[in-house]
Amino acid sequence: MKTIKDAKFIRQGADFGEIRPVFKRTVWLDKEVDKATLYVSALGFYEAYFNNSRVGKFIFAPGWTVYGKRIQYQEYDVTNLLEECNTLDIALGNGRRYHGNPHENYESITCREEALIAALRIEYADGTEELIPTDDTWQCAKSNIIYSHVYNGETVDYTANTDELFPVKVLDDISTDILVPTEGEEVREMARLEAIKLITTPKGETVIDFGQNLTGYVEWLVPAKKGQEFTLSHAEVLDKDGNFYTDNLRGAKAQVKVISDGNEHKFKPTFSYQGFRYIKLEGFEKKDVDLENFVAVVVFSNMKRTGYFACGHDLVQQLYENIVWGQRGNFLDIPTDCNQRDERFGWTGDIQVFSRTATINYRAEKFLVKWVHDLALDQRANGEYTDICPDIYGWESCGSAAWADAGIVVPYWIYRTYGNTQIIKDQFESMKKWILFMESKGSVRGLNDLHDHHFGDWLSLDAGEEATGGFTDDNLIATAYLAYSNRLFIEMGKAIGEDMSYFEELYKLTIEQYRKTYLNSGKPQHETQTANVLAIYFDLTDDIQREGKKLVDDIEACGHLKTGFVGTPYLLHALTKIGREDVAYKLLLKEDFPSWLFPVTKGATTMWERWDGAKRDGSFATPDMNSFNHYAYGSVGDWLYTTVAGIDSDINEPGYKHIIFKPLPIKELGYAKARIITPYGEVVSGWEYTGNGNECRFTFTIPKGCHATLYLDNEEYEFEDGTYDTVFEYEG
Ligand code: BGC
Repeated sequence: MKTIKDAKFIRQGADFGEIRPVFKRTVWLDKEVDKATLYVSALGFYEAYFNNSRVGKFIFAPGWTVYGKRIQYQEYDVTNLLEECNTLDIALGNGRRYHGNPHENYESITCREEALIAALRIEYADGTEELIPTDDTWQCAKSNIIYSHVYNGETVDYTANTDELFPVKVLDDISTDILVPTEGEEVREMARLEAIKLITTPKGETVIDFGQNLTGYVEWLVPAKKGQEFTLSHAEVLDKDGNFYTDNLRGAKAQVKVISDGNEHKFKPTFSYQGFRYIKLEGFEKKDVDLENFVAVVVFSNMKRTGYFACGHDLVQQLYENIVWGQRGNFLDIPTDCNQRDERFGWTGDIQVFSRTATINYRAEKFLVKWVHDLALDQRANGEYTDICPDIYGWESCGSAAWADAGIVVPYWIYRTYGNTQIIKDQFESMKKWILFMESKGSVRGLNDLHDHHFGDWLSLDAGEEATGGFTDDNLIATAYLAYSNRLFIEMGKAIGEDMSYFEELYKLTIEQYRKTYLNSGKPQHETQTANVLAIYFDLTDDIQREGKKLVDDIEACGHLKTGFVGTPYLLHALTKIGREDVAYKLLLKEDFPSWLFPVTKGATTMWERWDGAKRDGSFATPDMNSFNHYAYGSVGDWLYTTVAGIDSDINEPGYKHIIFKPLPIKELGYAKARIITPYGEVVSGWEYTGNGNECRFTFTIPKGCHATLYLDNEEYEFEDGTYDTVFEYEG
């Protein structure tokens, strides 16, 4: 049977400059058809139309993979769209993910020019079939998209001449072996938000507020004013004076422009997305601006929502909503660090710390499995995982501690949350290479202290203002991660029946060396909050209470957290582990800077990259790196699920087959409840203070075929599946 692999990549046969091409083919049918299937892929983005109907719902198809190794193609059943004479129109978007990025290296390692490949397979009722592949029988035209760029935006000229047809160029030199069926989730339009407010800023700018920082684009009505150019600029925040602020977008222009042909058009960009809450309008008569003509379209990968959390504390509730929005904003085909500036890359450290929360919020299994497979494709021969994936930078050094460890930690949460053991089998050799790489970087066996490329405890508060790398010793973090990643690797290896004795021995040595080298060394860079947190949470210490005391003393002395990307995800878990839930709750409920709730009090609707994204006086941190939609600190979400509401899955029975209920009621929250749709069904845990406040009512639901252990007030209770409702005397 012929497939898309029998087609050829094609490109426009003339120089179109920045104008995006549309490839065309007419297909006449003179026999009865059983089925018609369209296969499409591209170097770049594509959007396909069959008889003028949009084919499929995938935005930014064919999806982002390690393009040098594999490119997805999509398969669409178009039988219902068939007519006697059929027209195929496929627009080809800018492959700026392949090239043209502000980063120099980006250009050098990827393909420079876009190309389309497609095939229409017709299966006739008489049993014969025909393949109509992209080849020199196709033609192309200029589209009205005269400029398009994933960061900069898009310009559409409705007056442009799109009628003239040009030949195509067939690219015999691009092999189709690279094409693979779609593995990930499609990016789709997932929600629509109405504009809530029209603002005139002190500078006199006309601005619309959508009330929510989001990822996507605006669908709007282009006024009928022939030749007039209308511009929409995008921003996440207004500055302290209330003016439109775009400095933090760095090189990303984030502007959509449309030139009117004198007719009204409902418009949205095709090949560009922005991170924004506000848009600034130019070219419009203010009196004609009607909020109803502007809708924000939220786009992200089509995952099913599986985690819900509610509590009686408005700010914590908003924090939780911000965490979920952080995922919506950054789960676009790959897990990105941010969604607005000239970056939006698959930074491994960010997803490493957020993966546990992410797998609970959404059924992110397919999405993450695809990305993890790409991570292995990008992995260097020496075992290093890259700092971003797809690795468009191609930096010589990579393998940063806590970033590269995504290669272990992300598969681990796919396994633990969904009970998926296939991912362990897929990644086993790759994961092993990474552990062996870390092992090879020890001045003695067990340490990981010779590698020279680390991001450290990124954006922590203990290294001075605007410092990025944190004060904690990089080699301490790297050795701690050797222990932690190896421990998870051992657990995963055993789950698929592998002999892990070599790694168990390495683990023992790592713990020994860690204790010798970093615990109580007397060096201040070994005694940071993050160092204490890692020692506790990664089980690196022989005296958890000693490390705990140091941690609590430091928090109490300065009155706040100081941790960055490395320490923050485990901070509250570590405090819980040493029995200092009181301190954990104090940190969670703290409202002034630095804290999780500080951004919420400043009106944040997503997670900020930095604790001080906006400062107390309303000014902003450096625009060089200040995203207002960065999910890393949203990793506290897993503590809300596992500890506040108290739902976890037993490591020995992953996928929530055996549920651990360990809720942590606190009067300040009034109540808390989480609901997680697990592979086995719905798990619920909730608590609520009732009566005079000394009674707490607990409710649990355990899906069929599962069982649970409830830990409450130092007691253990076993439950079979069912729903339970119990009132305890509970001081809290
Ligand atoms: C990204 C981060 C990332 C970091 C690595 C930044 O530019 O936005 O989130 O992890 O670089 O140091």
